[in-house]
Amino acid sequence: MVASFCFLEMRSVMTRETPRRHVHCRFGRPNHDTICGETAATAPDTVYKPDIIIYNSHFFFLQSYLRSIMPMSDRSRGASPLRPAFVGTPSYKPDGLSVADHLHPVINAGRVAVITGAASGIGKAAALEFAKIGMKVAITDVNEEKLQEVGKGLIETLGEANVLVIPTDVSKVEEVVHFRDRIYEAWGEVAVLMNNAGIADRGTSWTGIESWRKVFDVNLFGIVNVQQTFVPSMIHQENQAMVINTGSKQGITNPPGNAAYNASKAAVKSLTEGLSHELRELPYSNVTAHLFIPGWTHTGITGSDASEKPPGAWTPQETVLYMLDHIRAGEFYILCPDNETRKEVDMLRIMWGAADIAEGRPALSRWHHQYQALFKEFMRDGLERLDAAS
Ligand SMILES: NC(=O)c1ccc[n+]([C@@H]2O[C@H](COP(=O)([O-])OP(=O)(O)OC[C@H]3O[C@@H](n4cnc5c(N)ncnc54)[C@H](O)[C@@H]3O)[C@@H](O)[C@H]2O)c1
Repeated sequence: MVASFCFLEMRSVMTRETPRRHVHCRFGRPNHDTICGETAATAPDTVYKPDIIIYNSHFFFLQSYLRSIMPMSDRSRGASPLRPAFVGTPSYKPDGLSVADHLHPVINAGRVAVITGAASGIGKAAALEFAKIGMKVAITDVNEEKLQEVGKGLIETLGEANVLVIPTDVSKVEEVVHFRDRIYEAWGEVAVLMNNAGIADRGTSWTGIESWRKVFDVNLFGIVNVQQTFVPSMIHQENQAMVINTGSKQGITNPPGNAAYNASKAAVKSLTEGLSHELRELPYSNVTAHLFIPGWTHTGITGSDASEKPPGAWTPQETVLYMLDHIRAGEFYILCPDNETRKEVDMLRIMWGAADIAEGRPALSRWHHQYQALFKEFMRDGLERLDAAS
């Protein structure tokens, strides 16, 4: 194929030290060349870089050539000819999706969803929902047994060729690199990267140093490891992609009781806001970032997911469906309600917390005995106003 392109203005920019190849392509924007290349990576910190640069003016010629050599089944999808094909199971058809859902450039059949912490709870529900849409799904978790169970269910829906089950501890960067390499080797792209793995522990600010380290290793460095490993490859892809980081309301309003968890999730908020800005500022980026903030969801982290769901909590599926709706709408902050706390209540609690700083009140005044009456009044008045306005 490379030989066929030698009449194009083309130059090799990378050595070909491994036989593993896939193609990245980026549409040109003003003042930026289109990049299309084969890539290779083996070392942990290797970024998938292009082998070949093809100038913008030649892109449409290249596109029609690639189309002509693609199988009909892929061409009929009307997507990029460079996107890896969905190896469909003939019996499987995504259903229950609206026309708009089918049109979404990222959350769409044939594209690739990667989910960490997918052996249970929200991660498992997300994997199942992405599979229902017809996306290829790569899942990981430290709980190998439960992960394999989830994998079996996904294979029933999608077929073996569209599922990767790779046990990984996200706090270990070398395992994350292996996870990424397996995905790019198989499918050559990532459309949705969902950083969901998380753990919680009760404790105070001055006790449990080991627990603090563990919580930060998974909740914060797990995401940092995955981001640093995947994002450099994702920003070189042609098709749009997104990173979804799972934060928590506790990382915003900081309720007393889970000091390490709250601090780790506050860091996830900060990290994801920064990522969103950095991606937006890249002159050629096709990747967006989103902060997913679940409400109270009945999972392993909030008790036992085998026990009966408390009425106030949502099921993991409800939370994931809410997330998908709002991600499709392009929102950055996806603040999920539950059966106990509606969105307006969350909004007011967040505003009260921010006003602690702006108004010079004591830290966490919401839980300070001298401010209880004022907080109640603020909530009552605020809800009345919000309800009247809606
Ligand atoms: N359930 C809620 O109410 C709630 C609310 C806000 C935020 N969250 C967040 O949602 C995410 C998912 O949690 P969940 O509620 O589904 O709980 P869960 O315990 O059911 O799922 C978390 C998964 O992460 C996995 N995991 C833990 N350490 C890991 C590691 N080092 N590497 C890979 N996987 C690892 C666990 O094995 C588990 O399967 C977490 O980040 C959590 O903080 C949950």
